[in-house]
Amino acid sequence: MAPVQAAEALRAGGLVAFPTETVYGLGADARSDLAVAGIFEAKGRPSDNPLIVHIADRCQLDGLITASSPLADKLMDLFWPGPLTLVLPAKEGALSRLVTAGLPTVAVRMPDHPLALGLIRQADCPIAAPSANRSGRPSPTTAGHVLEDLAGRIDGIVDGGATGVGLESTVVELEGDRLVRILRPGGITAEALQAALPHAVIVTDDQMGEAAAPRSPGMKYAHYAPQGELTLVGGEPSSVATAIQAAVDDSRACGISTGVLAFDERAARYVADLVIGMGSETKLEDAAHSLYAALRQFDAAGIERIWAESPAKAGIGAALLNRMVKASGGRHETV
Ligand code: TXA
Ligand code: MG
Repeated sequence: MAPVQAAEALRAGGLVAFPTETVYGLGADARSDLAVAGIFEAKGRPSDNPLIVHIADRCQLDGLITASSPLADKLMDLFWPGPLTLVLPAKEGALSRLVTAGLPTVAVRMPDHPLALGLIRQADCPIAAPSANRSGRPSPTTAGHVLEDLAGRIDGIVDGGATGVGLESTVVELEGDRLVRILRPGGITAEALQAALPHAVIVTDDQMGEAAAPRSPGMKYAHYAPQGELTLVGGEPSSVATAIQAAVDDSRACGISTGVLAFDERAARYVADLVIGMGSETKLEDAAHSLYAALRQFDAAGIERIWAESPAKAGIGAALLNRMVKASGGRHETV
């Protein structure tokens, strides 16, 4: 669908999928109850999981929040447009209440993608947009993935090819002038936040433990899962490879179809029904870019059991590991 038509559909209360630099979003006019209700229905999304509001210009923010802060302003200066979502105090009545799921805060970001920015400007309204997948499935990084999940349920897709980052934005909550809590790791790493704000205290999701889940309601739900059973295996690389191959061999002996998601350094060593290389373990950006497409490839091949090598947690690896752990439903072994 051409961006002009898509903007018209959004203005008329429709649902349009569009590319961002992270994953495809399913957009609707964030001010309209009816349009936003359509997002929850199309995705099968629980209504207590709030949506991110996408804007194209900083001046749009004034109408959505009661107050910014020097810390929030600094983060916007540094990282917008880009994969950083800020949770800010919501202005009563500015948006459909369904967007914030009853919270007093609203999550806002400015995507770094010309088609997304053009669409938001032409629609001339804040756009609520979760990832454009059926709830629980891997997020879509191509227009084809969106169609797999949502064909017949939405009004159109703006096709911008494959998305860049491949994982969703980093969601942060701020306190005072120094504290940045990462509620969901993503495209902007903890290291990048710390380097940009040397005096800030960056709290990561695992430092918050259980406290992170209620703060970002979406994090408590099952997510990103392929149809086959996924197990993550971490540890010393050659032990990981040996353990995965042994588990694959056991399943194959029982007639179960098997898949392995491995780093390129070892992918050629595995014998399974489908082995997918996700790039080098020294360049985790490539694995982030290809993770969701790989999970969907295992589904397309009807693979029943999948094993994945666990990435190192530094940099974008933190977001990658977070998504892989969720996709595995917590089946994470260390050998
Ligand atoms: O990269 C992205 O962020 C993509 C693209 C399309 O922009 N969007 C995305 O949306 O990932 P979604 O709905 O799949 O994830 C939104 C996350 C959820 O974990 C949700 O709980 C959290 O943001 N969230 C939204 N509003 C919040 C709020 N007021 N307070 C805390 N967390 C919030
Ligand atoms: Mg999502």
